[in-house]
Amino acid sequence: MIIAIDGPAASGKGTLAKRLADHFGLPHLDTGLLYRAVGRRMLDEGLRLEDSEAAAAIAEELEVVDLDETRLRGGEMGEAASVVAAYPKVRKALLDLQRRFAHQRGGAVLDGRDIGTVIAPGAEAKIFVTATPETRARRRHEELRRRGADLPFEDVLADIRRRDARDAGRADAPLKPAPDAQVLDTTALDIEAAFQAAVVIVQRRAAP
Ligand code: DC
Repeated sequence: MIIAIDGPAASGKGTLAKRLADHFGLPHLDTGLLYRAVGRRMLDEGLRLEDSEAAAAIAEELEVVDLDETRLRGGEMGEAASVVAAYPKVRKALLDLQRRFAHQRGGAVLDGRDIGTVIAPGAEAKIFVTATPETRARRRHEELRRRGADLPFEDVLADIRRRDARDAGRADAPLKPAPDAQVLDTTALDIEAAFQAAVVIVQRRAAP
């Protein structure tokens, strides 16, 4: 069974995907980490993020085992990831790797922006996780504060809006729900309630 989880930045899709993977005993891939890893390598090597050819060459070499999550988190890497993710050659270079992951062990949970539309259009269950920009910014703001970074709320909200606009506005594989995705709006839900709702969606889809 393949479960596709898509949604905008800070929608909670990562937490949801991880919990679904545990619940259904499936491997999990946070595909945002792939784009973050490309952005990270660009910056580490002193390359300009505008250099789409260099980004594509890095993406060609990337393997899932290379993903060191601790160095890839954070807003700066998210921003870099969002820039390189708009290059069609980068997306193409990461396509096979994601499809192999989805199928190699008989199924998986993948979360990102284009899982239900491009990576795994035949996925048994597709969930598009969303919440208002203000709600996502509030969650991100609280998370940052817990980690000791006290950014103004308005800055966090502006960052989320900028990322939404870039991810949804690009020509190649823009952020949007697949026609057969179930939209899960978590604006009024906590993590546990969102998880319970997601389990019901998956069960209904996998065994109609
Ligand atoms: O989910 P995230 O915040 O870690 O993703 C970082 C960026 O990577 C996001 O702004 C857009 C890009 N991305 C993408 O284009 N396609 C995916 N499947 C996953 C992420």
